Amino acid sequence: MKQVKKAIIPAAGLGTRFLPATKTIPKEMLTLVDAPIIFYVVEEAIDAGIEDIILVQGRGKTAIEDFFDISYELEDKLAKDGKMGLLDRLVRIRNMANIISVRQKQPLGLGHAVQCAQKVVGDEAFAVLLGDEIMVRSNFKIPNTTGILVRHFERNQASTVAVMQVEKSEVSKYGIADLEPLIAELYKVKGFVEKPSPTDSPSFWALPGRYVFSSKIFSEIGQVATGRGGEIQLTDAMDSLAKKEIMYACTFPHERFDAGDKLGYLKANVELGLCNKELGADFKDFILKTAEKLSSTKK
Ligand code: G1P
Repeated sequence: MKQVKKAIIPAAGLGTRFLPATKTIPKEMLTLVDAPIIFYVVEEAIDAGIEDIILVQGRGKTAIEDFFDISYELEDKLAKDGKMGLLDRLVRIRNMANIISVRQKQPLGLGHAVQCAQKVVGDEAFAVLLGDEIMVRSNFKIPNTTGILVRHFERNQASTVAVMQVEKSEVSKYGIADLEPLIAELYKVKGFVEKPSPTDSPSFWALPGRYVFSSKIFSEIGQVATGRGGEIQLTDAMDSLAKKEIMYACTFPHERFDAGDKLGYLKANVELGLCNKELGADFKDFILKTAEKLSSTKK
């Protein structure tokens, strides 16, 4: 029985949707409340039982690995100043995961980024979490989104990916799944299309960037032709795999934000700000007052 203990986090994109902020800072390092986007993604993987995180990075992205490494000077200063709460937090972050870094030397697409981690994964099952997609947990009694996929994989021993419903006008932004309902939140996958036009889309079930695969996905990635945008698309490899062996898709009850997009990033900050134990109450007060002000200026 295969277990899921490794996760690949592709984080090699150039962040062009977020320029000029991402000219010198990787988009995965932009802050959500008080931690970078990538922290929330790694935390989701660790909470789902993942032990090894394989970061697929491009040039100039070493700030991401450094964030999960020790900072002697800082820790020493915090200890001397008696700031033990902050020190504990930094120590927890550097101990939270075994981070393995691999390079994607050319931006050849998401499928290619996943393939760059093949040697580290070997023939194990693994999760993929896109480094700029945030899942805010709405119910702590239910596993997080990656945790739900891991549970299904370990029960069924078959690749399982997360899906969410989107508006017709949004399908061309996502990989879209063709599904057959099974039980409750679980579907059997018939196929996938990367970013179809609304008229050609097989459904409104979109891929939000959370996947668990058997290692067989690697041979499919190795065989797919260059796809949409001249890139090796993960979605095309998933389509081939789903036509050869059973693959599942499942929904999740958590809130998802595309934090690599300006509006998605602002929304994620509001959501996480409201959930924050220290700041949430004051922030909510501010939001309500702002909303009141906006509605009175509208009248
Ligand atoms: C990628 C995937 C797409 C997926 C999306 C989720 O596209 O190729 O299938 O639905 O992430 O955000 P990108 O947003 O990198 O263009």
